Order: sequence, then structure tokens, then C-alpha cells
Amino acid sequence: MVQSPTSLFDVSGKVVLITGGAQGMGRMIAEGFVAGGAKVYITSRKADVAAAAAAAMAETGTCVALARDLSSPEDASALAREITEREPRLDVLVNNAGRTWGAPMENFPDKAWAPVMAVNVQAPFTLVRDLLPLLRAAASASDPARVINIGSLAGRIVERLSAFSYAASKAAVHHLTRELAAELARDQITVNTVVPGYFPTQMTSHIRAEEERLTGLVDRIPLGRLGSAEDVVGACVMLSSRAGAYITGSEIVIDGGLAGCR
Ligand SMILES: NC(=O)c1ccc[n+]([C@@H]2O[C@H](COP(=O)([O-])OP(=O)(O)OC[C@H]3O[C@@H](n4cnc5c(N)ncnc54)[C@H](OP(=O)(O)O)[C@@H]3O)[C@@H](O)[C@H]2O)c1
Repeated sequence: MVQSPTSLFDVSGKVVLITGGAQGMGRMIAEGFVAGGAKVYITSRKADVAAAAAAAMAETGTCVALARDLSSPEDASALAREITEREPRLDVLVNNAGRTWGAPMENFPDKAWAPVMAVNVQAPFTLVRDLLPLLRAAASASDPARVINIGSLAGRIVERLSAFSYAASKAAVHHLTRELAAELARDQITVNTVVPGYFPTQMTSHIRAEEERLTGLVDRIPLGRLGSAEDVVGACVMLSSRAGAYITGSEIVIDGGLAGCR
């Protein structure tokens, strides 16, 4: 007898780490996992922001705040050590923290490359590498450990955002996902990318601030709206539950049809 949909999408009891989980899309994902009964660790560079977010989410479940920068591999390793000191296993790692840099081509500075690649590409790799013992401890054939990398539509199609290092970093994450998926399949660790289109967070505030630009964007999205918390939570919960146990090396595109309906 097949499991019921409720049990297929169950994430209760899972230990989940969401980088950048205090705000924006990471916060949406964290709220979804907390509501689903998971034990969720979130990070922010700011201790007060992390603590306030965790306190708000702790009203509905279990959420632990960690103050961590992920600007260097040493920072990422320090986060992995902190989780390892607290938990014997990690069921789900969501590499969500990300940064962008926008500037016209002529003025796009050299300094816009290293910090973007460090947070968006290297930190996810370092976290997976250093958390391997915990991911392996959680992994089984029937219930693999999961790594979810948050990519971007900008890394999949050309969106003309003048965010050159960001777009390249996200394309790199998409490919890194496939490399890691192949490497870790034998360990029963799945690795997938969730590829968001446009969601209402700080990262898109400059687009949403200009009414004409926002209207033009929404007109271009086949489903006629920006993404919502439910859209990204749905994808992450599916990938983390029994429903997603046989998916690895994939991209789940949540963009209202921008890429697929062309
Ligand atoms: N919004 C969209 O439409 C959209 C579309 C495609 C992809 N994405 C991706 O979604 C993810 C979340 O972005 P968002 O939209 O939620 O934007 P956001 O509101 O600007 O959030 C960025 C997140 O990344 C964290 N972060 C940034 N730099 C960091 C650093 N050096 N060390 C540690 N954490 C750092 C921030 O944490 P603190 O500031 O709390 O430290 C924050 O939680 C990113 O990977 C982004 O590329 C977003």
C-alpha cells in the first residue's frame, strides 16, 4: 500500500540547517520546516537578527539561532564544527545564504567577484565537505540525507540583471550540485538545486521599488505573480521528505514559468 500524501511529505523529527535562515527566502524555508515539526538551525551574520527570528519561530516548533558569517571557507568550517558539536546527525542542509552585486558592465568592479563566489559557491561546498560525517550518519537507502542548494533563474537563463558575478556563481552552483550528487549518491546523500525566479525579499527590493519595472516583470511571468513562501517551502519539503527520496542531481525550477514557457 502506498504511503498517504501526508506521510510522503512528512519532515517531522528531521534535523535541518538553513544558512541565511533568519530572513528572506531562508526564513520562509525555515518557517516551513519548523511548522512541519523539524528541528531547525538558522544562521545570520547578526546575532540579534538570528535570535529574534529563532524566538519567533520557536513559538510553533524548534528553532535554534547561530550567528555566523560565511564569507570565507574558515567561516563555513566553523559553522560545520558548531553543528557537529551539537548534533550526531544532519538530515537536511539547505545552502540558502547568498549575495549579489549589480553594476553596469563598464563599471563592474573586480571586487564584485571574490565575495560573491565565496558565499554563493565555496561556502556551500565547504559545508557539504565538513558536514559529511553528520550527513552520512543520517543517510539510509529508504531515507537519504539531503542537500538543497538554492540556485537562481539568473544562473539558468539570461535575465540581463547586470549582476555578472552573481549569475555566474549561480550557474556554478547548479553544476556543483550535479558534481556532488554523483559523488555522494553511493553514500545515500541526495543533492539538488531549487531554482527560484523572483521572490519578494531584500534581494529583489530594487526591482519591486520601481512600479513600472515590477509591472513589467509580473507581465513577463507566465503565471502572473511573484513567488511566495509556500512555493519555495513546497519544493524544499518535497525534496527533504519520502516524496523526494529518489531525486538527485536535479533542478526544481520555481519561477512561474519564466524559463520553461519560453
Ligand atoms: N529573492 C529572489 O527572487 C531570489 C531569486 C533567485 C535566487 N535567490 C536566492 O535565494 C537565496 C536567499 O536570498 P534572498 O532572496 O532571501 O535575499 P536576502 O533577503 O538578501 O537574503 C540573503 C541571505 O543570505 C545571507 N547572507 C548574505 N551574505 C552572507 C554572508 N557573507 N554570510 C552569511 N550569510 C550571508 C543573509 O543573512 P544575514 O543578512 O541575516 O546575515 C540572508 O539571510 C540566495 O541564495 C539568493 O541568491 C533569491
